[in-house]
Amino acid sequence: MRLISTNYLQENMTLGKSIFNEKWQVLISEGVPLTKRMIDRLIDLGITYVYIEDPQTDDIEIHEPISERSRREAIETIQETFDIVKDERRLAKTFVFDRLAKKFSIVVRDILSQVKSHKDVISLLADVCAYDNYIFTHSLNVTIYSLALGMELNLSYRQLEELGMGAMLHDVGKRVVPSEILSKPGKLTNDEFDVIKKHAEDGFSLLRHVPNIPLTAAHCAYQHHERLDGSGYPRGLAGADIHYYSRILAIADVYDAVTSNRVYRKAMLPQEGLEILYAGAGTKFEIHMVEAFRRAIAAYPVGLTVRLSDGRRGVVIRQNPGLSDRPVIRIFDHDGKIIEATYELDLKDELAVVIVETDTSLMSKK
Ligand SMILES: [Fe+2]
Repeated sequence: MRLISTNYLQENMTLGKSIFNEKWQVLISEGVPLTKRMIDRLIDLGITYVYIEDPQTDDIEIHEPISERSRREAIETIQETFDIVKDERRLAKTFVFDRLAKKFSIVVRDILSQVKSHKDVISLLADVCAYDNYIFTHSLNVTIYSLALGMELNLSYRQLEELGMGAMLHDVGKRVVPSEILSKPGKLTNDEFDVIKKHAEDGFSLLRHVPNIPLTAAHCAYQHHERLDGSGYPRGLAGADIHYYSRILAIADVYDAVTSNRVYRKAMLPQEGLEILYAGAGTKFEIHMVEAFRRAIAAYPVGLTVRLSDGRRGVVIRQNPGLSDRPVIRIFDHDGKIIEATYELDLKDELAVVIVETDTSLMSKK
C-alpha cells in the first residue's frame, strides 16, 4: 500500500482502506477500481490522503494500533455520550452519564491494552473517515495519542486509565456549540470564538459531578486549551498549575487537529504536525513531552514516499521502534531514475542520510 494525495488519484486505482461515514457505512470500498465520480467524492469529502494498492508495495501492510472492532465500539460509545449532552435535560444527563461512564472505562481499558501491546510507533493515518464525524474520531485519536505519550512518560496503569477517560471526554462540551460555528469554513469572529472557548468550562461542569468519572477527567476538559506560558484559555493557567494530564492532552489534541482533515484546512502529514509541536516546545508545551511524543509516533508512516539527502527515493516499509524519524525505506529510484532491483535501506544504520522531502504524488514512472 502506498499513501498518496487524493489530488493524484487516477481512475482504476484501488483504495487500500475503505472510507466510512459516521454511521460506519462504507462510502467507498477498498479493492474496487476507482471511477472519476468516486475520486471527486473523496475530494468533496475533504479527504487529503488515501492508501492505494500498488504493485510495487503490495506486500506492505499498515498496522493499526487498535482493531477495527474496538475503534467502532469506542466511536459508538463516544457518540452515544455526546448525543446525550446535546439532547437531554441537565438532571437526567448526570444519571445517564454515570451509566455510560462504566462503559467508558471498559472501552478505555480495551484501547489501553491494545496500545500497550502495539509494538510499533503510532500512526493513525490509515483511519480515513469523512470529516462529518470529526468530533468522535478526534476524541478517539486523542485518546490513543495521549495513552501512547503517557506510556512513553512511564505513567502507571491507573494514571493511564484516568488520562484515557479524560482524553476521551475532553471535548464533550463542544456538543452544545452550534455546528455552524464548529464547522465554519472561514475565519471565526471574536464572538464565535468566545462561544467555542466555552466548551472547556461546559465540559468541566458536565463531568465534575458524575460519580463514576474521575475528577481528573473533568479537569482535562477544563484545561486542555491551557498553555505552559499562560497563553491558553479559559483561565490562562501556566506551568505546573495546569494538571499533568492536561499538559499531555494538549499535545495529543493539537497534533490530531492539525493532522486531520478539516473543512477549513487540509490535513498535515505527521512530520509537519511534529514541527508545529516543536515550534511550541518550551513555550506552549513541555519540551520533554514533545520529545517523548516524537518517539511514540511515526514521523514518516509506512507507505509514504520519501526523498533522501543523497538523491535516492523510496517508500517507508517499516518503523524502527523509538527512532520514529529513521524508518526502513524500500529504494526505487536513484536521482530520478527508476532502478530495476529495489532494495531496503535502514536509516537506523545510515546515519549520514536524512529524509529531506515527503511526496504524496505518484513515483516517477518507468
Ligand atoms: Fe477542545
